[in-house]
Amino acid sequence: MKIIRSIPEIKKELGRHRKRGRSVGLVPTMGYLHEGHLSLIRKARQDNDVVVVSIFVNPTQFGPNEDYREYPRDLRRDARLCKKAGADYIFYPAAKSMYPKGHSTFVCVEGLTKNLCGRFRPGHFRGVTTVVTKLFNIVSPDAAYFGQKDAQQSVVIKRMAEDLDMGIRIEVLPTVREKDGLAMSSRNSYLSSDGRKRAATIYRSLQLARDLIKLNDKDAPGIVREMRKMLVPVATKIDYVSIVDPLTLKDVRTITGEVLVAVAVWMGETRLIDNILTRY
Ligand code: PAF
Repeated sequence: MKIIRSIPEIKKELGRHRKRGRSVGLVPTMGYLHEGHLSLIRKARQDNDVVVVSIFVNPTQFGPNEDYREYPRDLRRDARLCKKAGADYIFYPAAKSMYPKGHSTFVCVEGLTKNLCGRFRPGHFRGVTTVVTKLFNIVSPDAAYFGQKDAQQSVVIKRMAEDLDMGIRIEVLPTVREKDGLAMSSRNSYLSSDGRKRAATIYRSLQLARDLIKLNDKDAPGIVREMRKMLVPVATKIDYVSIVDPLTLKDVRTITGEVLVAVAVWMGETRLIDNILTRY
């Protein structure tokens, strides 16, 4: 497995593979890998001849008061995990090569970025779609792999790939969870032991929603109220508890088909998101 930092070098290397007709799978990450990322790398390995994992803590998707500086980084550990999961390359660019002086082009997906995290993290998705477009242009993958945990991100990236005729298959894989149901996230490493215990309630609140929907409860605002009752005693702050259409991401009032139940809460200083897809 090779670690490549330079954009021209990774382009040249992958160009050689493509000339020989080999398929390329890309797993975009910000590093500090966990089992969720590894499941994406293993799937990319099954599907493709060449697997590239990008590791780049992307400054443009963090707000001014967010955790860009604190975001956990450990390339040595990540490289070991990538190799074991079957990656061929880590693309590990520097911020100044991704965003050289004078960079002034951004990619925005409208509409889908307004609700859920878009309401609380202005500019976040603009940063995500810009960096993912750059990674797609650099790597030119046949397929790219994302986790369902970032449900809104996946919907936005699928829309972007389709709207801009990128010709890249977007694969979204299930959320990988800890034993108590907490969705794996690099940010879980910020949690205190008490916060970590309290964080298990997030998934329990999603299970409650699923149970109510399966029991034919169609009243989305009522289900949200029940979920909030569970979350209020454990969360430091709730950004949102929402039941939305999984394609448009618009709030649903009466549940008649498949819905995305999505939550963003703070445990201490740590913002956690999670979701489930479920149907009436
Ligand atoms: O999901 C992430 O880790 C990031 O948002 C991504 C897709 C790698 C873009 O920086």
